[in-house]
Amino acid sequence: MPLVTTTEMFKKAYEGGYAVGAFNVNNMEIVQGITEACQETRSPVILQVSKGARAYANHTYLVKLVEAAIIENPDIPIALHLDHGPDFETCKACIDGGFSSVMIDGSSLPFDENVELSKKVVEYAHAHGVVVEAELGTLAGIEDDVKVEAGEASYTKPEEVEEFVSRTGCDSLAIAIGTSHGAYKFKPGTNPQLRFDVLEEVSRRLPGFPIVLHGSSSVPQEFVEKINKYGGNMPGAIGVPEDQLRKAASLSVCKINIDSDIRLAITATIREYFAEHPDHFDPRQYLKPARAAVKEMVKHKIIDVLGSDNKI
Ligand code: G3H
Ligand code: 13P
Ligand code: ZN
Repeated sequence: MPLVTTTEMFKKAYEGGYAVGAFNVNNMEIVQGITEACQETRSPVILQVSKGARAYANHTYLVKLVEAAIIENPDIPIALHLDHGPDFETCKACIDGGFSSVMIDGSSLPFDENVELSKKVVEYAHAHGVVVEAELGTLAGIEDDVKVEAGEASYTKPEEVEEFVSRTGCDSLAIAIGTSHGAYKFKPGTNPQLRFDVLEEVSRRLPGFPIVLHGSSSVPQEFVEKINKYGGNMPGAIGVPEDQLRKAASLSVCKINIDSDIRLAITATIREYFAEHPDHFDPRQYLKPARAAVKEMVKHKIIDVLGSDNKI
């Protein structure tokens, strides 16, 4: 099937009490690992591309890799989404350049400026058959080299969401309920707890409206341990507990963003491979198990966390 928007995916996810995985793609092996997992589990998927991914791999290469994945996996609905669009121009370039969905991230702006920018993107996107995710509230962590300290992060204010959605016309809303970007989300020894009270109040005010969670990697400790065992140094890397993501997916959260877990799966696998095969130098030899690790990790997310298996 051709590239799809997220409209139908989110409607089914909302009604079915599951979430669609939004996985960041930066190269061929990542695209293949994710989409093979989705094909095998018969799950819809959102492949998302950040500003950094476009700078690294080039817009055209990424679009063509996704087109190849659509040809190779014809049964599954695939949306191509701009992750954290920083401005109107980047969103326009992706809308004009074959994406089916964009995010405009005005979350660091004052409310009215966020509304104004998001509305401008929505008007252009909708005129071109593309859907828009906007954001209210600020996540901690690292995005496109910008580090937001935990103290500067702020939860979404539920009392603002109705006005924001009606004034912007956005199709989905990313909110801040305690998730954060990167591999160091919570302090070791603490008890990570998402703010389900905020999520529930947002959902009460926006019935039927798809909510998005960024910063939702769970930072599997098996990957962290492997990285540290084979020469890495990632003490205290901790993610969002998977049972809390499952609960969010059963509520109004229709899209769950995962990037760091992909990076960890690849890095852990390649570190182990090099430790065990110090004489190997063919990239195909170590990228093959890395791609397989991405595929296994994504299958696990689909089946045990998102609940999106057999939902095509
Ligand atoms: O939220 C950010 C994503 O993990 C993308 O990261 O900007 O390093 O590509 P990136
Ligand atoms: P993680 O760093 O938790 O994988 O978050 C990814 C993300 O939100 C991409 O937009
Ligand atoms: Zn994000």
